[in-house]
Amino acid sequence: MSRGQFITFEGTEGVGKSTQLATAREALEAAGKPVLVTREPGGTPMAEAIRELLLTPRDEAVNDLTELLLMFAARAQHLHSLILPALEEGTWVLCDRFTDATYAYQGGGRGVPREQIATLEQLVQGDLRPDHIVLLDAPVEVGMARARSRSAPDRFEREKAAFFQRIRDCYLERAEQQPLRYHVLNAAQPLEEVSRQVATLISRLVA
Ligand code: TMP
Repeated sequence: MSRGQFITFEGTEGVGKSTQLATAREALEAAGKPVLVTREPGGTPMAEAIRELLLTPRDEAVNDLTELLLMFAARAQHLHSLILPALEEGTWVLCDRFTDATYAYQGGGRGVPREQIATLEQLVQGDLRPDHIVLLDAPVEVGMARARSRSAPDRFEREKAAFFQRIRDCYLERAEQQPLRYHVLNAAQPLEEVSRQVATLISRLVA
């Protein structure tokens, strides 16, 4: 059996990742592919516990390195116990965020040096990288307004617009550097149009 494809969904807050993951899942299922939908940080009970640690707002200042290491600790657990076995048995894995989020949030947002992230990426993942990255791109104000209307802000959503602007810039820069792997969609368009583009992309990938 051939290995499944690993497709990740990225973007700043409130760009509609959940909706578009559901669209991608439907398109893959319609094409007869086995699919696993998962998320980062999280995806296994232990990694979800680490997610809780990372997202809970707290009075204690969180050191950038602590945040970075927890992201990769959750990723090691998720990757080795869930993602890799699924890919190996031929399942297509759709993941809500992955290491590109670390480059964007911890690198672009917090200012952690890129080389430190690359070192941990190699340690945890070896040569594994997403086959395709769907970047849902929208001006930060659009996404922040949507995210705020949903629920009480988590530790990341409490950050200011400038933090998310650096994240968006970092994603766009990475997309420019890796044009074959990145698929940039304008998430400020009406939802139906973004969904149509996601479904078209998936049908191209399964063909
Ligand atoms: P979510 O809101 O998309 O579920 O993601 C949880 C938060 O975690 C989001 O604010 C982005 C952040 N995050 C990072 O900062 N670095 C990472 O590597 C990942 C996967 C998520």
